[in-house]
Amino acid sequence: MVSQIYSMGLYGMDAFPVEVEADLSQGLPSFEVVGLPGAAVKESRDRVRAAMKNCGYEFPVSRITVNLAPADQKKEGPLYDLPLLIALLKASRQLDCDTDGSVFIGELSLTGEVRSVRGVLPMAISAKEHGFGRIFVPRSNAAEGAVVKGLDVFPVGNLQELFRHLTGAETIQPAVPSEVSGETLAPLPDFADVRGQFQAKRALEIAAAGGHNVLLIGPPGSGKSMLAKRLPSILPDMTFEETMETTKIHSIAGAIPPGVSLIRTRPFRAPHHTVSPAGLSGGGSIPHPGEISLAHNGVLFLDELPEFSRSAMEVLRQPIENGQVTISRAGGTVSYPCSVMLVAAMNPCPCGYFGHPTRRCVCSPQAVTRYLSRVSGPLLDRLDLHIEVPPVEFDELSSGEKAESSAAVRARVNAARTVQNARFEGTGITCNARITPDRLRDFCPMSEKSLTLLKTAFERLGLSARAYDRVLKVCRTIADLDGCETIEPRHVAEAVQYRSLDRKYWMKEL
Ligand SMILES: Nc1ncnc2c1ncn2[C@@H]1O[C@H](COP(=O)(O)OP(=O)(O)OP(=O)(O)O)[C@@H](O)[C@H]1O
Ligand SMILES: [Mg+2]
Repeated sequence: MVSQIYSMGLYGMDAFPVEVEADLSQGLPSFEVVGLPGAAVKESRDRVRAAMKNCGYEFPVSRITVNLAPADQKKEGPLYDLPLLIALLKASRQLDCDTDGSVFIGELSLTGEVRSVRGVLPMAISAKEHGFGRIFVPRSNAAEGAVVKGLDVFPVGNLQELFRHLTGAETIQPAVPSEVSGETLAPLPDFADVRGQFQAKRALEIAAAGGHNVLLIGPPGSGKSMLAKRLPSILPDMTFEETMETTKIHSIAGAIPPGVSLIRTRPFRAPHHTVSPAGLSGGGSIPHPGEISLAHNGVLFLDELPEFSRSAMEVLRQPIENGQVTISRAGGTVSYPCSVMLVAAMNPCPCGYFGHPTRRCVCSPQAVTRYLSRVSGPLLDRLDLHIEVPPVEFDELSSGEKAESSAAVRARVNAARTVQNARFEGTGITCNARITPDRLRDFCPMSEKSLTLLKTAFERLGLSARAYDRVLKVCRTIADLDGCETIEPRHVAEAVQYRSLDRKYWMKEL
């Protein structure tokens, strides 16, 4: 007897329906799974066998063949445990129920508990698109699937519960989207705690408003890490499309906290400097999203930038530019979006005091050069705003005055983003930093004087063509914060000033 159950497979950002067919026939007892199953799928056999017995069912003593179709797509992960078990129960006539129009996904424990899996959101989206009406998912993943409208998402805790539902003895209620957004539960650190550092704060405001990349450079203890950690509190609200994409990636990576439906706050990822290139870009036999994709629509913070391996830094170059990372492995080529704001922090030399106004740097000139050269020119060129974070004066530190709160800054950032969202409607561009080269001239109109000023700066600073484009985008954001449609000389002057640090440190021999 043959039975047929539907499940889902995952490839990159998208899911596809998988037909799980089970055939029981006469012959020596065996259990084969065919249709390009990965290692975890092969192990399903043992979990299914044990779960079936422990839930009071007979494991069929026959020649069992399970086929996962389409047979040319690789199937990964333990999510086929549940459909496989149901297919076997139906094939052996131990379960009699209608499973047409239903999709099953879930890992099983040996006692029949249903465990969480990755990628429930894209799978639910795909199930809806392919005309399925119901999807049965692990209880801990139900909230993320429930976001999809027009599809019943049934949370399943264990097999007994599911069987009672399927046979009509009891009903599981479909999940409803949760209002908890996870990250907002804990209050974010606030910019009001940071004394002084007005220029750095202003630059971070610009960066947040336009989605630009930032480099913070300064001596130890001046507040670089402190400033960067407060960035999430001023990041603009996400649009619905951004929320869905970010949640999808977190769903694929299995990084959504239980009970959370949508990730509504922009991610802030701060990988340690020992991270591998694959950890940053993504990897695995069927590649999983890396840190850069998990930071999609948010911030990727690299603290102590020169300590990152050269290969880790280089792997970021292209994805930062394109907003997309393509990973090729034996299992296939996969692309994930990674439209991130890169924020990097570093000391100017090994001892940290090079260029310090009062303390002497003890590093040799060669040591300073070697340290700085760990950050490659091409990476530096992609950092739009270079910000010096000087040591804070004692008077500033000891004054009782509270600095401006993050809420006030965030209001300005949000206003600037609203202008951008209206400007880029229908173009697929999300923020100023993502303006494509062909649209740059349309979106960045300049006065005659601004153009002359930019020309002078371009020649004086020896900017690359890329840096020129990037400066123009920063000008656009500064003008947006100022409420101006045309870029004026004062906007250009400010934008250019954020590109001058590389001359102080990296090209000091000039
Ligand atoms: N501007 C500031 N206002 C208030 N406190 C500050 C300021 N700068 C630094 N601090 C205090 O100093 C601590 C260390 O700052 P932080 O870790 O940000 O330094 P850093 O610049 O990242 O140093 P390093 O280069 O060693 O990483 C902070 O946790 C905070 O308590
Ligand atoms: Mg630090």
